Amino acid sequence: MNAPEPAVVSDITRPMPHVMNTYGRLPIALSYGKGCWVWDTQGRRYLDGLAGIAVNTLGHGHPKLVPALQEQVARMIHCSNYYEVPLQEQLAAKLCEISGLASAFFCNSGLEANEGALKIARKFGHDKGIHRPEIIVYEKAFHGRSIATLSATGNAKVQAGFGPLVEGFVRVPLNDLAAIEHQARSNPNVVAVFLEVIQGEGGINQSRGDYLRGLRRICDEKDWLLMLDEVQCGLGRTGKWFAHQWAGIKPDVMPLAKGLSSGVPVGAIVVGERAKNVLGPGNHGTTFGGNPLAMRAGVETLRIIEEEGLLANAARVGAVLRQALEQGLDGVKGVVEFRGAGLMIGIELDRPCGALLGQAAEAGLMISVTAERVIRLLPALILNEDEARQIAAILCPLVKAFLAQPKAP
Ligand SMILES: Cc1ncc(COP(=O)(O)O)c(C=O)c1O
Repeated sequence: MNAPEPAVVSDITRPMPHVMNTYGRLPIALSYGKGCWVWDTQGRRYLDGLAGIAVNTLGHGHPKLVPALQEQVARMIHCSNYYEVPLQEQLAAKLCEISGLASAFFCNSGLEANEGALKIARKFGHDKGIHRPEIIVYEKAFHGRSIATLSATGNAKVQAGFGPLVEGFVRVPLNDLAAIEHQARSNPNVVAVFLEVIQGEGGINQSRGDYLRGLRRICDEKDWLLMLDEVQCGLGRTGKWFAHQWAGIKPDVMPLAKGLSSGVPVGAIVVGERAKNVLGPGNHGTTFGGNPLAMRAGVETLRIIEEEGLLANAARVGAVLRQALEQGLDGVKGVVEFRGAGLMIGIELDRPCGALLGQAAEAGLMISVTAERVIRLLPALILNEDEARQIAAILCPLVKAFLAQPKAP
């Protein structure tokens, strides 16, 4: 890949004293991207193994997406939900077609989609006479940073300092059907089960197919809502439109966000028949949600995924990447496990490895580290086999060198 077309900007202020200090940022400012490559303001080039944390589905500057969005910006960016927004119907219809669900509500982010899902679950309970509804949530889950979604999150660090937490959650371990059966027998207030099909921030932890089918069965028997947070693992990342589709089940409620509009902020709650009429006029809303720009970006993203066969690409190139990583780290002491599906890959090490983030960037690769010890790769669905091998070729030597150092006491 040659040098970027537009000149890089180098007159940035760094660090960023006027921006609230809520992230541990690397001292790198990205200014330009093309495909799976990004350039910083100093003109250095990186292979993007992160895609903005599973957001840039089509990579950067996709030649079909860019003109469509330019056209949409010129036509209309925002209009109020006081009026009909035909692009909302277009995107909702497509989401229903690919999920087999019935309708969608649009918002602006993952936490908003999850917040809406929690409201649906509570109202579903109230509508059937359960006045203190409880929702089953999971250890190591991550659902967002609002007060309700951080309460549903299974990570004490995310919750620390923000109590009192929202009540009405029961927490269970992943893949333990007996824990759900226990709730089914003993807790009449349960109205929903809420989980990520593959936990992202929690360290790329997969729910087993038989576990998901067991949940579906119990939810049907008990008239609970099965709510699957596909914010990170959905939209083609695993090689099917949605990660739960590998288990052959359908949820009742499915929050989406991240990759849906290839970088334009968006969120969606897609619901099946059982949840379709729970919310009515006046129950929920948002100013920005479903605006024409975000909807156009979603419509084009899904169309381009189909046109370019990116589901199959995610499965095929994901397998190449996984194999290259497994080969490159074969027999290396300190590598605990490879996890994930398609282009959602986690490598658990035997020690905290946050330092690898900066080392990988130094070597020209963007990655993430989550749950302290898990290297996470979430590249764009357009990644090709050569780029997949390049990711492994950069990453594996770094991991080996890192693990060769003595473990911190
Ligand atoms: C599974 C899952 N749900 C919800 C969220 C929250 O999304 P957002 O950051 O858009 O609020 C995330 C973000 O990482 C996520 O991975």
